[in-house]
Amino acid sequence: METKRIEINYTEYGSKAEMPEGDAALLTKAEEMTAKSYAPYSNFHVGAAVLMSGGRIFGGSNQENAAFPSGLCAERTALFYASAQCHDEDVVAVAIAAEYQGEPVKSVPSPCGACRQAMVQYESRSGKPIKVILGGGDRILVFNSVSDLLPLVFDCI
Ligand code: THU
Repeated sequence: METKRIEINYTEYGSKAEMPEGDAALLTKAEEMTAKSYAPYSNFHVGAAVLMSGGRIFGGSNQENAAFPSGLCAERTALFYASAQCHDEDVVAVAIAAEYQGEPVKSVPSPCGACRQAMVQYESRSGKPIKVILGGGDRILVFNSVSDLLPLVFDCI
């Protein structure tokens, strides 16, 4: 028997001004997308922005439904749209932001498990890591790979 550890590395920024320009721009797009969320049930407005290897950026937002499970998170809305439009390209980076009651959320908007699983699939597909940028109030966390957010991923089939 052996006890093991999994280490997760990430970079934390205090503001967008500290970030590389491209990453800051992607986060700005995610923030803008919170305004396009449809969230009449939770009032929690999530925005996502996806950078594809061809250089295009696609935005998405959460889309809720009266039959709750029929709605979809911002990350998957953006990712599926981006991948459908750019079938032969790789996903390079994903930025996520959220707003609640008219204010950006104070805590970091960490993606749900289903969105992590969906994102990691695009890493397996391309064989390249996807950068994940989580923009909270005064904390911005950047992960160099989705696998940092989903260790021991299901990829058995
Ligand atoms: N939501 C997202 O858009 N992304 C996540 O990663 C977590 C949650 C949405 C789903 C729902 O519309 C609202 O936030 C509250 O859960």
